[in-house]
Amino acid sequence: MSKTTKRYTVTAALPYANGPVHIGHLAGVYVPADIYVRYLRSRQREVAFVCGSDEHGVPITIRAQKEGVSPQQVVDKYHSIIRDSFRDFGISFDIYSRTSAPVHHQTASDFFTKLQKDGVFEVKESEQYYDEKAGQFLADRYIKGTCPNCGYTEAYGDQCESCGTSLSPSDLIDPRSMLSGAKPVLRNTTHWYLPLNQYEKWLREWILEGHKDWKSNVYGQCKSWIEQGLQPRAVTRDLDWGVPVPLPEAEGKVLYVWFDAPIGYISATKDWAEQTGKNWEPYWKDEETKLVHFIGKDNIVFHCIIFPAMLKAHGDFILPENVPANEFLNLEGNKISTSRNWAVWLHEYLAEFPEKQDVLRYALCANAPETKDNDFTWKDFQAKNNNELVAILGNFVNRALVLTHKYYEGKVPAAGEFFDIDEEVKEKLRKLPNQVAESIEQYKFREALNSMMELARAGNKYLADTEPWKLIKENPERVKTIMNLSLQLAANLSILAEPFLPFSMEKLRNMLQLEKLDWKEAGRTDILAAGHQLEAAQLLFEKIEDQVVENQVKKLEETKAANEAANTPVAPSKAEVVFDDFMKMDIRIGTILEAERVKKSKKLLKLKVDTGIDQRTILSGIAQYFEPEAIIGQQVSVLVNLAPRPIMGIESQGMILMAEDKDGSLAFMKPGKPVANGSGVS
Ligand code: 2FM
Ligand code: ZN
Repeated sequence: MSKTTKRYTVTAALPYANGPVHIGHLAGVYVPADIYVRYLRSRQREVAFVCGSDEHGVPITIRAQKEGVSPQQVVDKYHSIIRDSFRDFGISFDIYSRTSAPVHHQTASDFFTKLQKDGVFEVKESEQYYDEKAGQFLADRYIKGTCPNCGYTEAYGDQCESCGTSLSPSDLIDPRSMLSGAKPVLRNTTHWYLPLNQYEKWLREWILEGHKDWKSNVYGQCKSWIEQGLQPRAVTRDLDWGVPVPLPEAEGKVLYVWFDAPIGYISATKDWAEQTGKNWEPYWKDEETKLVHFIGKDNIVFHCIIFPAMLKAHGDFILPENVPANEFLNLEGNKISTSRNWAVWLHEYLAEFPEKQDVLRYALCANAPETKDNDFTWKDFQAKNNNELVAILGNFVNRALVLTHKYYEGKVPAAGEFFDIDEEVKEKLRKLPNQVAESIEQYKFREALNSMMELARAGNKYLADTEPWKLIKENPERVKTIMNLSLQLAANLSILAEPFLPFSMEKLRNMLQLEKLDWKEAGRTDILAAGHQLEAAQLLFEKIEDQVVENQVKKLEETKAANEAANTPVAPSKAEVVFDDFMKMDIRIGTILEAERVKKSKKLLKLKVDTGIDQRTILSGIAQYFEPEAIIGQQVSVLVNLAPRPIMGIESQGMILMAEDKDGSLAFMKPGKPVANGSGVS
């Protein structure tokens, strides 16, 4: 029996505050969640839309170590960058909280204590890797070594990033601690385990029997987890960053980040309630609240199995009604990767495409990875903008407004008699709001977006078929009806498209001089009264030129080249030489006096160099990297006793020493401060 829904608690995965957010986050989680919530609000439903930064766990401490700052500094920095990106893209959270907030520490701590007092946990000792030099237990990510599968020397204790193999630290050859470089040793440690095995039967019934309505990718993943058999999971860690385990015997231990993070949804709701004077409890305890988690596919097990088991064990809370997880979005055919900088970062997008938030929201929703991984390409982004937003939606609205200004000084004309062609449009309009709503309620946002666009398509077709610009002379009364109905369609669009394109629909409402209307008003053909004055027409969307997207692709290609260069191993060292061999070489500092290109050679520059001993001609293969005029006066290192040799008919008397970077680019070997020409290098 389906229960009635009095209110909604909608959560969006708490992003780790260890880096900014990118288009993959937006497409997978935040745009769908925001569309859903904006729609619910338009239906006048009571809803709390909560999110916040996930500020604990190893990803944060690793980032802090890399940047040489404290974990708190890392989360402070990224928390505000992420919060601002969400705000700028119109992700309309009621609260964007954070798990380092005191309310969260208290909530997570109390949650653990309740389970501990109820005897839910199993306490077990196990052996874990320990760094004796640093005096710390090591998370798997903190151990590096050689991959037994591919020989990569920088593989992590949980995974080799070179060949993708999942590992455990004991698989690594020559393991070393990332903290001190020491060889980790095994030590006994105690942890608290959530006995998931005891919840297996219940989970089987609750999900596999009770939630056949979940998306097939979510249901399928749950089924496979449950069928493999569930094991107890440690919910504590030996780490000094996180929510301390609230037991005297657990000093130096914190809650596992995946234990505290989902509790973050509850704390965020409390944070919101405190700030707004509301009561948080019905949002988490009333059976008539519908709890929906928006997440990406890598979070399914935590939200569908572990967190529900925690909630069930606790006993005071409701369970999620649905977990509409998405698959992943790729970028130009490759997996989005923060570490390889293969991403479109939201703050960078906005700097380059100011005020085009809706274009990205649209392109990401139209291409959302709802049932399978999908690809974002800049070409497709351009096509979605030019062929759909500009050519269909923007064009229709613009024509309706411009013609109204032209014929009626911007006042809505009164409709007269309706003909079949008008009735067909009205019929479509009557059906579409329900169609869009149904798709949204089933978490089919691409389908919903398409249905919404059908209204704009119908509007364009209506104008093209009725051709008011031709009728205006011979049948002005008829044109009044056509324009009235067209404007009513535009007014309806401002309701139906709002969840998807909130910024543009606000613009449209301004042009139409219309208040924000609820969903229940959609379908009406009398939203705008006759005589209502409109504002001047403005373009809702503008064409994006080829050059603009080509630049974006170029930027990505440069990133790719830089990544490849960074991953290219340095050349192995050459055979050993004795000191006397080295001493045979006479290397001096000289100054380039003249430089010119060598005819018929792309690579060579002919240089005149003052070596302090003499002035001589040297040919150097650096023409692709340096302009001749730019290097005059440059101090360089010269191998002066290299036997002269003819190159392209010119005798080269020595060699300029260059450093070659991984990408093949060259740099001069020059003294750290100007020195006299002829100074020896040894
Ligand atoms: O995968 C992630 O980015 C996690 N920080 C998501 C946490 S969701 C929730 F449990 F908080
Ligand atoms: Zn490997």
